[in-house]
Amino acid sequence: MLKLGVNIDHVATVREARYRGRGFGEPCPVDAALTCEAAGAHGITAHLREDRRHIQDADVVALRKKISTRLNLEMANAEEIIRIALKLKPNFVCLVPERRQEITTEGGLDVAGNLAALKRTVRRMNEAGIAVSFFIAPDPIQVAAAAMAGSQFIELHTGAYAECFGKARERKAELKRLAAAATQARDLGLKVNAGHGLNTTNVPPLLAVVPQLIELNIGHSIISRSLTVGLAKAVKEMLAVMK
Ligand code: PXP
Repeated sequence: MLKLGVNIDHVATVREARYRGRGFGEPCPVDAALTCEAAGAHGITAHLREDRRHIQDADVVALRKKISTRLNLEMANAEEIIRIALKLKPNFVCLVPERRQEITTEGGLDVAGNLAALKRTVRRMNEAGIAVSFFIAPDPIQVAAAAMAGSQFIELHTGAYAECFGKARERKAELKRLAAAATQARDLGLKVNAGHGLNTTNVPPLLAVVPQLIELNIGHSIISRSLTVGLAKAVKEMLAVMK
């Protein structure tokens, strides 16, 4: 069954807008995570950035203790964050680009260009019992590199698809790239997730052409919708669409 991981970074973004550096304040990303779980989300995703722009160290510790589904920690391949992850032991880490040189022209992680370093991180995470995903563009070179680096998952970057959704020809081309990347990944033994820019409108056409997806990681559209209908309802609406 297709799973939903809710990205709660934006909840922390709102808190930090008022309470930056204070170690307290609302809204609380952990409370939001618990609401998402109670509404049926299969996991919680949080990005502990090197610049701590939204999620803070204390948030990921509290999430690890309090959530009962699975924690997916998004992170850069940076030694400081790697050490935090090894101690925290999330169920998954998703390695994402934060610095210019780690980013491909299409916005995903440049696995091919950082193969040796990423291979080492995969080994360290796997030895600690943490499964690894790479957030990559639907690019055959990056998919092949992910398999070479030994990750268990890839997360296909759907940002380009979401951006061009209103333009039929470009949308079709993006869907074709996503479907081809997912098939290539599956044939290489990788499990395939997707995320970035997904909403209740663009998810159905994606699922129609990429049926092998295991999990969608969605933040912005759910948190935005929650301002109008509440978080539990926003999560349930997304789950209904995914069904
Ligand atoms: N997956 C990854 C790896 C991301 O970095 C993000 C954005 O933080 C998301 C999914 C969620 O994207 P959005 O907030 O656009 O739904």
